[in-house]
Amino acid sequence: MNDNAFHFPVLLDAICKLIEDLPVKSDLIYIDSTLGEGVHAKAILEKYDFLSLVGIERDPQILERAKHFLSIFEERITYFNDWFDNFFVNYPLNVKANFILVDLGISMFHYKGSKKGFSFLEDEPLDMRLCSSSCKISASEIVNTFSKYDLEALIYDLSNEHYSRRISKAIIEYRKIKKIETTKELQSIISKVYPFSKVKINPATKTFQALRIYVNDELARLKRSLPFWVENLAKDGILAIITFHSIEDRIVKDFFGGLSCDLYAKISKKPIMPSFDEIKKNKPSRSAKLRVIKKL
Ligand SMILES: C[S@@+](CC[C@H](N)C(=O)[O-])C[C@H]1O[C@@H](n2cnc3c(N)ncnc32)[C@H](O)[C@@H]1O
Repeated sequence: MNDNAFHFPVLLDAICKLIEDLPVKSDLIYIDSTLGEGVHAKAILEKYDFLSLVGIERDPQILERAKHFLSIFEERITYFNDWFDNFFVNYPLNVKANFILVDLGISMFHYKGSKKGFSFLEDEPLDMRLCSSSCKISASEIVNTFSKYDLEALIYDLSNEHYSRRISKAIIEYRKIKKIETTKELQSIISKVYPFSKVKINPATKTFQALRIYVNDELARLKRSLPFWVENLAKDGILAIITFHSIEDRIVKDFFGGLSCDLYAKISKKPIMPSFDEIKKNKPSRSAKLRVIKKL
């Protein structure tokens, strides 16, 4: 296995600052709810020897990469191959967490190395399941079986795609002739009906995002986890959540807004965002927003 990670950790300096501000610095539990390749985790464990890591990751393929990448820290880590909502609802630890990190979405490995059809830049079978045994449906089954109205609603609701109607119509027309099997096929269907003057990003970007969110039930898992993340924080514990699109960010913002000020403090009123320099070095960080609360 290659020792180099595909992923580049987002807002790492801001996250380290949160750890440095923890009042006690011995025997602390850091739960990484979205371990990925373990790039955040590696940087954090290297810097702070008072932390033990509990790493949660649903995708078994990337979890193996994380185990390899983090092998020098083996005795400080416990791994869970599970959805983070399942983990937190059935919280299996007998101690509460001092630092919980949630870095939502998927990793650069998923786009570039997983071969599961997350990226329209690669030519791969359309799948997008982080876990094939516990996801009810693949992206290919959605585009080949959903009605025009259900497809339109899915694409619009999960990505705010303005052209969801014409995209769903084009998908239905295409599949009358042939089943849609690959990422490139879907990307080409979308590109042909997208108005040229409106193209700032790849026309397929939002539709691919919507399909991935639906396949992995991302919004329901986020909503289900929020109360359990805060419940399982120790006193002075920190919950840090990085989102990558406005629908997720709104869910986190509203939830934090509804918490009692006597029990929880927001670390900053506005979300923390990457600097111009970070965006220059790592373009995918441009849409990241970090929201943080502390248990009092
Ligand atoms: C943005 S990546 C995290 C990258 C990680 N912070 C790093 O530095 O390598 C998100 C990861 O969370 C995983 N993931 C997404 N939703 C999940 C869920 N509900 N439960 C468990 N893992 C999830 C994805 O498979 C992906 O590997």
